[in-house]
Amino acid sequence: MSETPGTPMLKAEAIRSGYHGVTVIKGLDFEVGNEVFAVLGANGAGKTTLLATLARLIPLMGGRIQFRGEDVSDLPPYETAGRGIGYVPQEKGVFAELTVLENLTVGGMIGERSQDERMAEVFELFPDLETLQTQTAGTLSGGESRMVAAGRAMMQDPILLLLDEPTAGLSPLYVDMFFEKITEIHETRGVGIVLAEQNATKALEVADRVMVLSLGEAFLIEAATELTTKQLKEGYRI
Ligand SMILES: Nc1ncnc2c1ncn2[C@@H]1O[C@H](COP(=O)(O)OP(=O)(O)OP(=O)(O)O)[C@@H](O)[C@H]1O
Ligand SMILES: [Mg+2]
Repeated sequence: MSETPGTPMLKAEAIRSGYHGVTVIKGLDFEVGNEVFAVLGANGAGKTTLLATLARLIPLMGGRIQFRGEDVSDLPPYETAGRGIGYVPQEKGVFAELTVLENLTVGGMIGERSQDERMAEVFELFPDLETLQTQTAGTLSGGESRMVAAGRAMMQDPILLLLDEPTAGLSPLYVDMFFEKITEIHETRGVGIVLAEQNATKALEVADRVMVLSLGEAFLIEAATELTTKQLKEGYRI
């Protein structure tokens, strides 16, 4: 198993979670440092369930989660957000009735730095959002919505950002742009990233380490450069 770069930001110990008593995440142990940590796996492998569990939106059935050395297992999601865990869900993740600007402002309610300063940084990262700021979020395209959802999470000044398939269903141009932004958020803003992805090829271009989930278990955790096609195929059971 590959080494976690630096001090772990997040540490998951034997975590189990699921829905209505059915276990989906079946005892995962892993650490995430200041890196891009990709979570790969087939449809239904448990990627969304894992990220929602890390964001503390789904109760733990067992195990514990530490963030920056503190146990966050029993905290509600707004508390984990306040401590620096940003979350961009798989579905659109915007308030459809609110404008782009209002969506971003909601994100900026957490934290201490001025809203204006953070808004300027988000517009620098996603210049399209500045142009779209008065538009109602419900009328945005899929790609634009994803930018708003990511921008809103960035307004929270996250230390660790959980991104659930941010490019699913987007056109190739948007996909490339989004992956560039992921690298930029990590490299220039120092944010750790947990990236759930179906698109293994693109994920491996930006990831430092990879966990392949298979039916809620870690098939492997490996440096992205070490992962072989054979392992990937086995992990995806294809
Ligand atoms: N709200 C829910 N209630 C009950 N079961 C659920 C719920 N959400 C997901 N599941 C089940 O949990 C398992 C894992 O689903 P999950 O959405 O975490 O997978 P995924 O890896 O994110 O898949 P995808 O790539 O399709 O997004 C699946 O068997 C799914 O049917
Ligand atoms: Mg999913």
